[in-house]
Amino acid sequence: MTHEPSIRDAGPGDAPFLTDMLLEAMNWTGEARFSREQALADPKIAHYVTGWPGPGDFGVIAEDGSTGAPVGAAWARPLPATDPGYGHVAPDVPELTLGVLPAFRRRGVGGALLDALLARAGREGVARLSLSVEDGNAAVSLYRSRGFVTVGREGDSDTMLVTL
Ligand SMILES: CC(C)(COP(=O)(O)OP(=O)(O)OC[C@H]1O[C@@H](n2cnc3c(N)ncnc32)[C@H](O)[C@@H]1OP(=O)(O)O)[C@@H](O)C(=O)NCCC(=O)NCCS
Repeated sequence: MTHEPSIRDAGPGDAPFLTDMLLEAMNWTGEARFSREQALADPKIAHYVTGWPGPGDFGVIAEDGSTGAPVGAAWARPLPATDPGYGHVAPDVPELTLGVLPAFRRRGVGGALLDALLARAGREGVARLSLSVEDGNAAVSLYRSRGFVTVGREGDSDTMLVTL
C-alpha cells in the first residue's frame, strides 16, 4: 500500500517546519552553510519566516500519507523594498520558498507543492510570484515547468517570476 503525501494549507503552528524547509533551501548544495541559529540570527534569511503568518503570507504543507508528518512546504511572503529578499521584484510580488525533506525528493512532492501554492495564489488574488535560485540548483527545471521565467540576476542566482 502506498501512502502518497497529501497537501494542506500552512497555519501558524507550521512556523518551525517552515524554518526547517528554509534551511533546506539555504543549504541546498548539501553543505551545511547555515545552522538553524545562524539562519535565524541573519535578518536576510530569517525574514522569510519571522512572525509567520504575517499579512499577505500564504503557504502549503505536504504531509506523509501514513504518519501525517510534514515532508515539504512551499510558501509565499511579500517583502518590502526596504527589506528585500534574494528574489525581490516588487513589494506586491510575494517571494516563494520551497523545500522537501531529502528522503521524500524526486517523487513529485515539490511539483505538487508548487502547483498547490500557485492555485492558492490565484485564489488570494496574487498576480505574480518571484523567487531566487542559485546556479546549479535543479529546482530551476521545476520552476520553468510551472511558467517561471528569469527576469534578473543577483550574484550567482537568477531571479525568476511567474505571472498567474
Ligand atoms: C527543489 C526541491 C523542492 C524539489 O522537490 P522534489 O520533491 O524532489 O520535486 P519533484 O519530485 O516534484 O521534481 C520536480 C522536477 O524538478 C526537477 N528536479 C528536482 N530535483 C532534481 C534533481 N536532483 N536533479 C534533476 N532534476 C531535479 C526535475 O525536473 C523534476 O522533474 P522530474 O522528476 O519529472 O524529472 C527539492 O529538491 C529540495 O527541497 N531541494 C532543497 C531545497 C531547495 O533547493 N529549494 C529551492 C530553492 S530555490
